[in-house]
Amino acid sequence: MTPFLLNVSIIGLGKIGAPLALALLNKGYRVLASALHPEKHRDLEKAGVKILPSSEAARRGDVILIAVKPRQVVGLAEEIRDFVEGKLVISVAAALTTRFLEGLLPGARVIRAMPNLAVSVCESATAIARGESATDHDVEVAKGIFGAVGDCVTVDEGLMDAITGLSGSGPAYAFILIDALADAGVKVGLPKDLALRLAARSLLGASKMVLETGEHPAVLKDSVLTPGGVTIAAVRVLERYGIRAALMDALEAAVRRAEEIRGELLRSAPLVEVQHR
Ligand SMILES: NC(=O)c1ccc[n+]([C@@H]2O[C@H](COP(=O)([O-])OP(=O)(O)OC[C@H]3O[C@@H](n4cnc5c(N)ncnc54)[C@H](OP(=O)(O)O)[C@@H]3O)[C@@H](O)[C@H]2O)c1
Repeated sequence: MTPFLLNVSIIGLGKIGAPLALALLNKGYRVLASALHPEKHRDLEKAGVKILPSSEAARRGDVILIAVKPRQVVGLAEEIRDFVEGKLVISVAAALTTRFLEGLLPGARVIRAMPNLAVSVCESATAIARGESATDHDVEVAKGIFGAVGDCVTVDEGLMDAITGLSGSGPAYAFILIDALADAGVKVGLPKDLALRLAARSLLGASKMVLETGEHPAVLKDSVLTPGGVTIAAVRVLERYGIRAALMDALEAAVRRAEEIRGELLRSAPLVEVQHR
C-alpha cells in the first residue's frame, strides 16, 4: 500500500513516538496517535496528527505502532486488544519479544523494532525483526516507516537485545563521549561551547567517513597516526584506560538489564507467560 493510503496509529508520543509522527506526516502517511496526556501534544495536533483515545486509534489504524515504555505495554494491550486482529503491530519497546507481544495481542502480526533517539533528526539506526506471522509485505511497510527517520536494517530477533545495547542506547554513549571530549578541551584551554562544537563535528565527520568510505575504522584510525606524533600519544592513554573493554562491559550490562526487564514483565503478566510455553 502506498504510504498516503496507510493510517499509522502511533500509541505514545514521547521521545520516539512524537518525532516518528512528524516524520511520517511529512512523508505523506495519515498519522493517528494517542497519549496519556493529550493536552501535552497540541503542537502535534496542529501539525496534522489526529490524537484519539488508544482504543480508537488502534481501531482506525492500518498499522499500530506501540511507542510506550516497556512497563506500560501490558496495560496498553488491555485497551487495544479488541482492535488489532489481522493488523500489523510494530513495537519499539525494549526487551519485549515478538512472542510476548503476540501473546498479549492475539491475532496481530507483530514486528519488533529498535530505533534510537536520533529519530528526532531523522538519523536513527533502526533494526527490525519479524514475528511469527508477519509477512514480507509487513517488513516492507516497517522499513518504509523507519526509513522515514534514518537507516533501517532487518535482523533475526535473537540479535535484538544486543542491538538495544549497541544502537538503541548508542546516542547516550556518544553524548558522554562528546561531553567528555569537550571537557578535555576545556582542560587544555578551550571555551566549552567551542570545544563542544568541535567534538560533535569530529564524531559526525568520523561516522560519515566510516559509512561513506566503507573503510575499516582501524584503517582510518591508522591513517591519522603519525609515527611518534600527537594522536598516537593520546591513543596510548585511551588504551591504557581501557576504552574498548569499558564499551564491551557496558554493552554486556545493557543486554543483562534487557533480560532482567523481560523477566520482570513476564512475571507481571503470567497469562502471557503461559502462552509462551
Ligand atoms: N528513548 C529512547 O532512546 C529509546 C530508544 C529505543 C527504543 N525506545 C523504546 O521506545 C519506547 C518509548 O520510549 P520513549 O523514550 O519515547 O518514552 P517516553 O518519552 O516516556 O514516552 C512514552 C509515551 O507513552 C505515552 N503513553 C503511556 N501510556 C500510554 C497509554 N496507555 N496510551 C497511550 N499513550 C501512552 C506517554 O504519554 P504522555 O506523553 O501523554 O505522558 C508518552 O507520550 C520504549 O518502550 C522504549 O523502550 C526508546
